[in-house]
Formats: sequence, structure tokens, C-alpha cells
Amino acid sequence: MLKDLVIRNRSYRGYDRSVRLPHELLTELVDLCRFTASSMNRQALRFHIAEDEEEVSAIQALTGWAMRLPELHLPYPGTEPTAFIVIAVDTSVGSRSAFQRDVGIAAQTMLLRAAEEGFGGCMLGTFRKKELSELLSLPDGIEPDLIVAFGKPDERIVLTEAGEDGSTGYYRSADGRTHFVPKLKLEDILI
Ligand SMILES: Cc1cc2nc3c(=O)[nH]c(=O)nc-3n(C[C@H](O)[C@H](O)[C@H](O)COP(=O)(O)O)c2cc1C
Repeated sequence: MLKDLVIRNRSYRGYDRSVRLPHELLTELVDLCRFTASSMNRQALRFHIAEDEEEVSAIQALTGWAMRLPELHLPYPGTEPTAFIVIAVDTSVGSRSAFQRDVGIAAQTMLLRAAEEGFGGCMLGTFRKKELSELLSLPDGIEPDLIVAFGKPDERIVLTEAGEDGSTGYYRSADGRTHFVPKLKLEDILI
């Protein structure tokens, strides 16, 4: 079960906008993060759910997608995510860098739960931080670290083996509709 979920949980950059994540599910995703591991159990993470269309599109404009394929300008118009969860660090608890592992654990946890319900998403480390803080009126000391996009996936993603030279760059089919993600083999990562 978990292996299936982990494999299904890809970084989707195209969504069916006619299907939205229910508000209760988005709230549940954040609630789940209360139970994840936390460095020294200091629980420094704070979350903002964006599901209102206007706010979602304002956040979308601040994000950078698929920096390896800039010519495609993903997501294609009309396939943008329908919700975002912004993960921020309360820097009165500790520095942002001290909690980046916590942020990754929280993001993956939320994505796996969303995948279980047939949804998907993408972690976005590329975004205009200052503008996002202003947009969300985040108080001083609450620093956004990662945005997680959510929606109903509407693209084909194929996992492949990394090249003999170890190359792992993702790429797309000529029509731009199928996304290939090379992964290393087990023997490549065992040391
Ligand atoms: C911390 C982190 C930040 C990421 N930031 C971005 C981003 O800003 N934009 C983007 O399109 N993808 C982003 N990704 C997604 C990666 O590009 C993606 O995980 C990688 O291509 C492998 O694809 P997969 O997740 O389907 O295995 C990020 C992933 C992680 C873990």
C-alpha cells in the first residue's frame, strides 16, 4: 500500500481544474502534520491553506515550475493547481534552516494523504518569498519555506531508469504531454 502511494505520488504540473480538493481534506492534511516528526519536537511549522480562486491564482503567479523545461511554461494554461498549502517556519522557535527537514517531512506526508484520495501535487521551493509574505500578510517572523500545490492530476508521468552516465534530468515527450522522470537504481544508492 505505502509503496504504491509513494510511486503514485509524483510531482504533477498539470491538473483537471474541474475537480477540487474538499476543504475538509485540505484541513486534514495540515492536521496530519501535527503528528509528524519534528526536530527536538519544537513544532516550528505554520501552515496557510489557499483554496479561494483569486488567492490561488495570485500565489500561482509567484511560483516557478519545472526550471529544467523553461520553454514549456508549465503548468499549461487552464491546468493550474486548485489549492496551495504554504509551509512556513515560526522563526521565534528557531531559524528557518533548522527546520527544513521538518518541512520536507510535512510536505511528503500531506502529498501521500492527498494521493490516497486520488489527488496529487508538487512541492515548490521556487517562489517569490517577499511577495508571498506580503500577499498573505504573514506576521514578522513567520517565514514561508515551501509551497505545496494540490489538484487532480491530469498528466502522464513515467518513471524511467537514470542514464548510464547517472543523468537524472526529467524531460517530456515531443507533444509535451508525457513527463519522464529518471530514477537511480537500488545499487546506485546503496553505499
Ligand atoms: C524540496 C523540493 C523543492 C521542489 N521545488 C520545485 C519547484 O520549485 N518547481 C517544480 O516544478 N518542482 C519542484 N520540485 C519537484 C522536483 O522537481 C521533483 O521532485 C523531481 O523532478 C522528481 O520528480 P518526482 O517528484 O515526480 O519524483 C521540488 C521538489 C522538492 C523535493
